[in-house]
Amino acid sequence: MRSTWTKRKTTSVAALLLLAASWIAPVRTTAQQMPKLVEDHGNATLMVEGQPYFILGAQVDNSSGWPERLDAVWPAAERMRLNTLEVPVYWEQMEPTRGTFDFTVVDAILEQARAHKTHLVLLWFGTWKNGKMHYVPDWVKSDPATYPRMKSRAGVPIDVLSPNAPANLEADSTAFAALMRHLKQADPQHTVIMMQVENESGSLGLVRDFSPMAQKQFDAPVPADLMRALHKNGAGNWSQVFGDDADETFAAWSVSRYINAVAATGKKELALPMYANNWLKSPRAYPVSTIPGDDYPSGGPTINMFPVWKAMAPSLDLLAPDIYVPSSERYRSVMHEFHRADNPLLIPESLGFEPFPGASGYARYLFYALGDGAVGFANFGLDRLHVDQPLSAESLAQVEGFRLLGSFDRELAALKFAGKVGTAVEENGIAQVELTVGPPFWRAIVSFPPAYDPPAAPVSTASDTTGLHVGRAVVAALGRNEFLVAGIDCRVQFALPVHSTGKQPQMLKVEEGRYDGTKWVPLRLWNGDETDYGLNFGGKGSLLRITLGSY
Ligand code: DGJ
Repeated sequence: MRSTWTKRKTTSVAALLLLAASWIAPVRTTAQQMPKLVEDHGNATLMVEGQPYFILGAQVDNSSGWPERLDAVWPAAERMRLNTLEVPVYWEQMEPTRGTFDFTVVDAILEQARAHKTHLVLLWFGTWKNGKMHYVPDWVKSDPATYPRMKSRAGVPIDVLSPNAPANLEADSTAFAALMRHLKQADPQHTVIMMQVENESGSLGLVRDFSPMAQKQFDAPVPADLMRALHKNGAGNWSQVFGDDADETFAAWSVSRYINAVAATGKKELALPMYANNWLKSPRAYPVSTIPGDDYPSGGPTINMFPVWKAMAPSLDLLAPDIYVPSSERYRSVMHEFHRADNPLLIPESLGFEPFPGASGYARYLFYALGDGAVGFANFGLDRLHVDQPLSAESLAQVEGFRLLGSFDRELAALKFAGKVGTAVEENGIAQVELTVGPPFWRAIVSFPPAYDPPAAPVSTASDTTGLHVGRAVVAALGRNEFLVAGIDCRVQFALPVHSTGKQPQMLKVEEGRYDGTKWVPLRLWNGDETDYGLNFGGKGSLLRITLGSY
């Protein structure tokens, strides 16, 4: 299957060429290398400014992509040490009258992000937003003769544009291309690192468009390129080939081709990485039978429609799940479904500041995503984090998790891309997790309170978040005997292989510090009570660089 992301070999050659060019070319102060997705030995990463990058992000509320509103969310972004903010761009605002574009809002957001040293993922709220057409300009909404809506069998229109109408596609892709053209000249430094094309596409209200125009396509033979991509032999119309799944498959074919065309037109102007996000087919705790167009938008990139989307939307770099589920088990199963050889894992929206009734412990998810090799992770609803007020234990745990990873995000991304990062996450009833990262030699044993052995340490690690049972650790191998260890509400001990020959492990050096870009900044040495009982991490979290030995 074709993938739009580049293999690392190409990158290395490009990097060498750039290096060579830098000897002869004058240094450019603003223009930056184009962000891109690369893959090496099954590990994917975004490259930003030529270096691996892990999105530590949050998404603002739907009506917060406005400069004055954003003023209120930057303090939370700073407190969390986010490196990326996801912000919508509204078609209705950007093209108030047909062919007239207003980029003042986008420009103000770019300026704010640069002032806060934060990158942006822009979300194109165009034809689709959560299975509806609410963000299209009023000149589209009020002219259904030119911009047709989806219609029921009885001819009743719904508030979703038809993906089968060329005029709709033409209008949306013209606007999106204008946005990308504008970014090309307004953002040479690539503050914007990625684009989301539409939002949770597909239709709520109908499984597909039944208007005569769409019906004609539905009754025609399934196109040969789709048949080939799905390894289907023979010929037939949609009902004959797909049976009970014909309506949804037709919808997915229609929506994926449309979004592919929007993305392709935009990439011709500026080839940033682009993705489509996904309203899950089965968002509850366990997969249950759900109805397309009723329980979730029909035709979106749900897991059952992946083959169609992968075949019809090669201009998208990945398909990303918005994960709002209340259990770690289900969360991880969704990540595993979407993380495929042809699909790097990105979680653009996650249950974070918007609680799910009866659920808790969402601070775990960032660390699961990191450990599972995601290229980025963002919580939804940053507006709800009021850092000027006392924080709940849930919010505090979120903040501290992001802050800790933010203290070494670039180093972390590089190590993750090299396959040298492991994470351990506490769950109720799980007292210890063993990690082996880098050369299979040292074992990192991560314990969660109160199951410490030896049980007591003179330094208490009890914190405001211990009771949530969301202890977390990241262990990254810098060399055979050197590790970065970042932890919250846990204890980390290193042990030799079980069958080692009578040797005992010892800590040669334990430095606490942070990274300034890729430069290690040591703050103090840990020893005595801080190391004799294992490396004890409290609720605020610390980053350690340790050297191990044996005697
Ligand atoms: C998912 C959507 O993509 C977001 O825009 C927002 O509506 C959230 N749901 C709210 O939970």
